[in-house]
Amino acid sequence: MTNSVALKPSRVVIVGMGAVGTTTGYTLMLRQRSSELVFVDVNHDKATGEMLDMNHGLPFTGGVKVWAGDYSDCKDADIIIITAGASQKPGETRIDLLKKNASIFKDIIERITEVNSHGILLIATNPVDILSYTSWKQSGWPASRVIGSGTLLDSARFRYLIGKNKGIDPRSIHAHIIGEHGDSEVPVWSLANVAGTDLELDEETQQDIFDRTKNAAYEIINAKGATSYAIALALDRIVAAILGNEGSVLNVSTFLEDYNGVSDVYLGVPCVVDRNGVREILPLPLNETEKVAFQASANKLKEQIAGLE
Ligand code: NAI
Ligand code: 2OP
Repeated sequence: MTNSVALKPSRVVIVGMGAVGTTTGYTLMLRQRSSELVFVDVNHDKATGEMLDMNHGLPFTGGVKVWAGDYSDCKDADIIIITAGASQKPGETRIDLLKKNASIFKDIIERITEVNSHGILLIATNPVDILSYTSWKQSGWPASRVIGSGTLLDSARFRYLIGKNKGIDPRSIHAHIIGEHGDSEVPVWSLANVAGTDLELDEETQQDIFDRTKNAAYEIINAKGATSYAIALALDRIVAAILGNEGSVLNVSTFLEDYNGVSDVYLGVPCVVDRNGVREILPLPLNETEKVAFQASANKLKEQIAGLE
């Protein structure tokens, strides 16, 4: 995990200052990821209130210039994070948000691309893989610069739960969730390891860890209405990889062509992320069961995309 301060002149705009946008803004401010942070929301008062509250903390943190702005501020943005739109109510799936958020996104992407053609779009709004795909299509930008948060959060939940079971720091656990950020996501048990050694988890324990990973958001939304802290840290991690030109491997959502039998869809897979966005997609040698589940995840999302068109 990168904690370094990277205050080269850089601008990050967050569109959507609800639970996710606000926590992400606060995380980026605390970690001083960019020299400028701009908050945009259809509810400008909300963005202004969050901005003022954070600015009053600057005497304790220093450095970052934070303001509530509008789409014209996207012009000089290095990264535009989109967290705007409807979120799940208890009992709703991420896919249930598709129609509503796809329509909100049409307007948002149009307004961003009117003023910016060089930046990186980082999408978190759900269903994140489908909205990343439609944003890529609409923007006309290279897929490398339209990135979804993908299964980075799910992989973090997975690593946390495995680490807890083994009594090992989750940062030392190598394990991936791939596919949809949602109900059809796939655990890659065949490649999960700690320092190259087998995790030695029986089938029942594996199933329990995966179920808790997949259902984590439902559990949290039932309990407190929204998820925010871990996704904010995941988005901060992606921003750090981009602005720091790190070449870090992160399970983000990206455009796939001929990847484990999957084409023409955005899904979460391990990608090398640097200043230009997704530089490379790493080919995971999945076993047959994982491959079938991954292809089913792709087909589920492709059906939804076809329904939109
Ligand atoms: P929220 O309801 O707290 O905030 C949404 C914000 O978007 C509100 O401030 C609202 O005013 C704003 N908004 C709505 N339409 C807008 C527009 N046209 N332009 C600008 N702003 C607009 O929702 P929350 O909890 O922050 O979730 C946001 C999205 O992030 C949801 O779709 C949620 O499912 C998703 N999410 C994704 C995660 C991931 O891992 N990718 C993790 C957590 C949430
Ligand atoms: C999450 O997984 C709701 O997608 C959101 O926390």
